[in-house]
Amino acid sequence: MSKALEIENLKVAFPTHRGVIRAVEGVSLNIDKGECLALVGESGCGKSVTSLTAMKLLDDTAIVRADKHIICGEDVLGFSDKQMEALRGRRVSMIFQDALSALDPVMTVGRQLDEVFIRHLRLSKKEARERSVAALAAVGIPEPGARYRSFPHELSGGMRQRVLIAMAFACEPELIIADEPTTALDVTIQAQILELLKKMQQQSGTALLFISHDLSVVSNMADRIAVMYSGKIAEQAQRDELIARPLHPYTRGLLSAVIGINDKKDSFIHIKGTLPDPADKPHGCYFCPRCSEAGEVCFVRQPLLKERVSGHYVRCHYLRCHRSERGEENE
Ligand SMILES: Nc1ncnc2c1ncn2[C@@H]1O[C@H](COP(=O)(O)OP(=O)(O)O)[C@@H](O)[C@H]1O
Ligand SMILES: [Mg+2]
Repeated sequence: MSKALEIENLKVAFPTHRGVIRAVEGVSLNIDKGECLALVGESGCGKSVTSLTAMKLLDDTAIVRADKHIICGEDVLGFSDKQMEALRGRRVSMIFQDALSALDPVMTVGRQLDEVFIRHLRLSKKEARERSVAALAAVGIPEPGARYRSFPHELSGGMRQRVLIAMAFACEPELIIADEPTTALDVTIQAQILELLKKMQQQSGTALLFISHDLSVVSNMADRIAVMYSGKIAEQAQRDELIARPLHPYTRGLLSAVIGINDKKDSFIHIKGTLPDPADKPHGCYFCPRCSEAGEVCFVRQPLLKERVSGHYVRCHYLRCHRSERGEENE
């Protein structure tokens, strides 16, 4: 089966006056058609840079390398801006966190939706308008005919996010990348928007790369979860497997912060400290300065991402299930 997204060994660096910031260091992501892969990790770990690079939307100051970059079967490594523009919006689209800045403040939301249909599907103005009103109704906007004439600032944050979702799904893309789509919203609205996104994704069969810093948010959405730490994937597995058997100490820390998601008491740990300075990362495992289980080897050698159980990958010298063997390296 062909994939919606295939990225292999993605590296993104920013030259700055403080030195080179290695924001993404060898990330590989695969998303099957119709699948929802969640990318989760704390703020600054490289999620947005990964998603912008996946869409080739990063500005020219970044140094980007990848061994493979295929979107909906198209090898986009050598794609021009024009070729990418043709792909974006039509076959792949994006939902951002901040709907207010993603939307044009001086144009009604209806006209902004019309433009998507006119540009990508070459519909007439009249046809586009009908599709736009239907699209607003489909994302649960009441009185869609009236709301079509609203400006973004006249809508609530939740309604604006619904408009962005309508725009993202407008041309029935094969892949949508949603970068923290509910982070700016309060908890009740967040739950409604997540439910809507999940419903739209399932109905349309669109693949979704869902990005969040919050594991409790992704746990309801994702088929598979990739945990990112300081520019690298720390752990990746099917959702149920990752939640039932988190192997990386960082994942267990994230899970323990989510009450009720995993009630194994002995897995409750608190992660102290912060992400390493991206311009000055530690030797060895990037997580070891914060890891309560780190041994000598962790401070000198970087662990590799290895498949421990079928489909379950983890980047750690030690494994929780081998705790009794502490002191012995597992790879
Ligand atoms: N244009 C840029 N120039 C320099 N550093 C950047 C730039 N964009 C992002 N970064 C750095 O890259 C790292 C990853 O950022 P980002 O992907 O936005 O994190 P996340 O989305 O996980 O919060 C951060 O350390 C951030 O400061
Ligand atoms: Mg981000």
